[in-house]
Amino acid sequence: MDNFTYWNPTKLIFGKGQLEQLKNEIPQYGRNILLVYGGGSIKKSGLYDQVINLLKDIHANIYELSGVEPNPRITTVRKGVDICKKENIDLLLAVGGGSVIDCTKAIAAGSKYDGDAWDLVTKKAFAKDALPFGTVLTLAATGSEMNSGSVITNWETQEKYGWGSPYTFPKFSILDPVHTFTVPKDQTVYGIVDMMSHVFEHYFHLTENTLMQDRMCESLLLTVIETAPKLINDLKNYDYRATILYNGTMALNGMLSMGYRGDWATHNIEHAVSAVYDIPHGGGLAILFPNWMKHNLHVKPSRFKQLAIRVFGVSSEGKSDEEIGLEGIDRLRDFWKSIGAPTRLADYGIDDSKLDLMADKAMANGEFGQFKKLKREDVLDIYKKSL
Ligand code: NZQ
Ligand code: ZN
Repeated sequence: MDNFTYWNPTKLIFGKGQLEQLKNEIPQYGRNILLVYGGGSIKKSGLYDQVINLLKDIHANIYELSGVEPNPRITTVRKGVDICKKENIDLLLAVGGGSVIDCTKAIAAGSKYDGDAWDLVTKKAFAKDALPFGTVLTLAATGSEMNSGSVITNWETQEKYGWGSPYTFPKFSILDPVHTFTVPKDQTVYGIVDMMSHVFEHYFHLTENTLMQDRMCESLLLTVIETAPKLINDLKNYDYRATILYNGTMALNGMLSMGYRGDWATHNIEHAVSAVYDIPHGGGLAILFPNWMKHNLHVKPSRFKQLAIRVFGVSSEGKSDEEIGLEGIDRLRDFWKSIGAPTRLADYGIDDSKLDLMADKAMANGEFGQFKKLKREDVLDIYKKSL
C-alpha cells in the first residue's frame, strides 16, 4: 500500500425529503443564488418548482442558467461565468446530473479566474479559488456530487477533458433517491455502467497489499450486480434507487483511491469518443471497457482472475489465470448487455472513419494509464476491437 492523505470536505445529505435542508445550507453563503440546470427534466419532474419555492422562502435573489448539455460545453460555462461576475453571485446551486454539476464547477472556478475558463480545463492555468456551490443530484452515475472533478467539452475543437482542483468540491450535496425516479431506463443503465467503471478504474493497479481496498471495490460491484437488474424493472423503487445512488457516490468520492493509483485509461479513451460523436459517457464505457480489459489481461492476469472469481463467480478448476480472467470479462459484457447497455461502437452508428482522429484526441497529453501505459497503437487496437 502507498502512503496517502484523504480529504473530502463535501457535506453529504442523503434521503427522502432532504431537499428541505436547502433552507439551512444556502443562507450560510449569501443571497444571490445562481440556479444551474439542464434541458428541462427538473421542470417535468416538479423538482424545479420545489427548489424555487424553497429559495423564495429564504428570500434568495434567484438567477438562472438553464440548458446545460449532457457532455457540458465550455460555451455554457462562459455564459455562467458572465452571470456570476455581473450579478455578484454568492452561491451556485446545481440541480441535475453529472453534466450540470461539472458545468457548475467550471463556472465556480472560472468566476474567480481572470482569463477564459477553458484555460482551467486544459490545465494552462490552475484554479486558485472558486465560488462556493451546492448540488441537488438527480442521476446516479458520476460521483461528481462528492468529488472535485469536472469534465468539459469544447465542441468547436472537439476536445473533452477532465480537470479538478481543491476548490471545486461541492460545499454540500443533497441526494434524495426520489429525485432519480424519473431517470429513464437508458440513462439509468448508463449511470450503472459508469459507476461500475469507476470501480474498475480503481481496481486495476500494480500496487501490492491492497486487501481492504480490493474488498471495498468488490463490495460495490457485487451490490450493483445484485440491484441493477431489479431496478431496471422497477424504476420507481425507493430502495433500489437508494442503493444505486449511494453506490455511485462511493465509487468516485476518493474512498476507493486510498493507498494506490488507479488506471483511468478507459475514461480517457471514452472521452475522446464522446468529444467526436457526443455519445453518452456510460454507453461509451460499456463498449470500451471489456476491450481495454482484454487488451491488458496479460499485464497482471492474477488481478483479472481475482475479479472473475470474487465478483462474477467464475470457477477456477483446471483453468489458467488468463482463461479465468477472460471468462470474467465475458461475464461483465454479458451482464451489461443483459441490462440494456450497448456492446459495439456500431450501436451508435460509429464506423472506422474517425478512429485516427479519436486516437489523436486520446493521445493529446501523451501516453496514459497507470496499470499499463497506452501508446497510440494500443488505443487504436481497443477502438478497432470495439467497432
Ligand atoms: O438535461 P436534463 O433535462 O436534466 O436531462 C438529463 C440528461 O439529458 C437527464 N436527467 C438527469 N436527471 C434526470 C434526467 N432525466 C429524467 N429524470 C431525472 N431525474 O439525463 C441526461 C444525462 O444527464 P447527464 O448529467 O449528462 O448524465 P451523467 O450524470 O451521466 O453525467 C455525464 C457527464 O459527466 C461526465 C461525463 O463525461 C459526462 O460529461 N463525468 C464526470 C465525472 C466527474 N465529474 O467526476 C466522472 C465521470 O467519469 C464522467 O466522465
Ligand atoms: Zn465515468
